[in-house]
Amino acid sequence: MKLKKLFINTIGCQMNVYDAERMEVLLAPMGYEVCTDPCVADLVIVNTCAIREKAEQKAFSFLGRLAGLKRKNPGLIIAAGGCVAQQEGKKILKRAPFVDIVFGTNAIARLPALIKRAEAEKTRIVDVDIEDNEDIPGDVLKNNSVSRFVTIMRGCDNFCTYCVVPYVRGRETSRRPDDIIKEIQALVDYGVREITLLGQNVNSYGKKEGLISFPGLLAKINEIKGLLRIRFTTSHPKDFSDELILAFRDLDKLCSHIHLPVQSGSTRILKRMNRKYTRETYLKKIDDLRKIVPRIAITSDIIVGFPGETREDFEMTLDLIKRVEYDNLFAFIYSDRPNAPAAGFKEKVPEKEKKERLNELLLLQKKYTIKKNRELVGSVKKILVEGFSKYQNHGDIKAEKNQWTGRTSSNKIVNFTTNETENENLMGKSVNVIIEEAFFNSLKGKQVATAANRCKEGESYAA
Ligand code: 5AD
Ligand code: SF4
Repeated sequence: MKLKKLFINTIGCQMNVYDAERMEVLLAPMGYEVCTDPCVADLVIVNTCAIREKAEQKAFSFLGRLAGLKRKNPGLIIAAGGCVAQQEGKKILKRAPFVDIVFGTNAIARLPALIKRAEAEKTRIVDVDIEDNEDIPGDVLKNNSVSRFVTIMRGCDNFCTYCVVPYVRGRETSRRPDDIIKEIQALVDYGVREITLLGQNVNSYGKKEGLISFPGLLAKINEIKGLLRIRFTTSHPKDFSDELILAFRDLDKLCSHIHLPVQSGSTRILKRMNRKYTRETYLKKIDDLRKIVPRIAITSDIIVGFPGETREDFEMTLDLIKRVEYDNLFAFIYSDRPNAPAAGFKEKVPEKEKKERLNELLLLQKKYTIKKNRELVGSVKKILVEGFSKYQNHGDIKAEKNQWTGRTSSNKIVNFTTNETENENLMGKSVNVIIEEAFFNSLKGKQVATAANRCKEGESYAA
């Protein structure tokens, strides 16, 4: 079989990262090997994101740059996949006449057949059939990562008024627990130690299909030997249950972090966003969670400048941030999305005002991020080692001066040094590190345990 080169440019969320891995696995039997330079590729896939206007622009700007490559190498196949492909369909062929294949979010299983057709017939193909999704539990991609994503559900039924996801990812469908467990087991057998379960709203996992509940699924995954850590994203506050709070207390592998997007601190705006919770019920859930797991790290997403957001509404968001004291925040300027109802809402907030609100919010959050990081100085944390510290990793295989990097259970990056005498490969191991310095984006520390104290596989983990 002739070996061919495949370049994938993935834009957007973890779901796209996971989908790109599936593409790699599905295309390997056709002789496609991943490369890091689109100029030498036989097939370039752009895995697009439509969540905000900026992400969509990024996709089209990358596609634009491919025109020159196609002129130099007419045999090159260019495929556009992901959410923008789903949203725009054959319009992409018009806007980017050098694209050969447009494939939607539910067409990944059919990608090998689409590429074979494009190779043989030299035709241009569009497959954006959204309801026709085949879940083929194939091989898992083998790479050196300690931590990997596993999708447990696709699509979304919530229809938040700003959001394009229900239109580009279709209705919510949960994967069968057995398929999920099998996939995680295969990853663990290959050396993966941490998995992040993915879904738009993991708290409603299995409800529609009458499968086990999300905490029930977590309990099953917690039993997998050799797996050290479980994370998940994203949780919708309206479905955040007491049962899930107890899972944080009871499941030793479930990490001490939750990402719980609030989007706004004003009940009036939450209503316009169709979020189905109020400021008060959100804050009550945070209080309930902290009563049971006081040191859990909490992060969130916030949209600034949603249509109709007044200064007063925005101040309620700032006040909510002060009340919760998040460990970290992802804040976004609102942008209109095709099909999303808010695109038609009047009272748009001027761009300048949106930018000012974003900066004000980020400045406030910075204080809490640093405060939360500083609180860890002096404590000993279990770190799952993900690789060499980036300061030392200039493409070298060996770490100099024993510099490593990993994360706390609360998902904070820790760069640390080991003893001078320590030469062991720590990748995928759990080690004790004393935190010595805190920065905005990371922490710095020193390994304190000897080999004997190191956490064994499967040993209790969450800090
Ligand atoms: N404009 C700005 N931000 C958005 N998000 C989703 N849709 C939009 C939009 N139209 C943000 C939300 C969501 C995160 C993934 O992206 O905060 O949680
Ligand atoms: Fe979009 Fe809301 Fe669904 Fe999240 S829950 S994907 S924000 S519609």
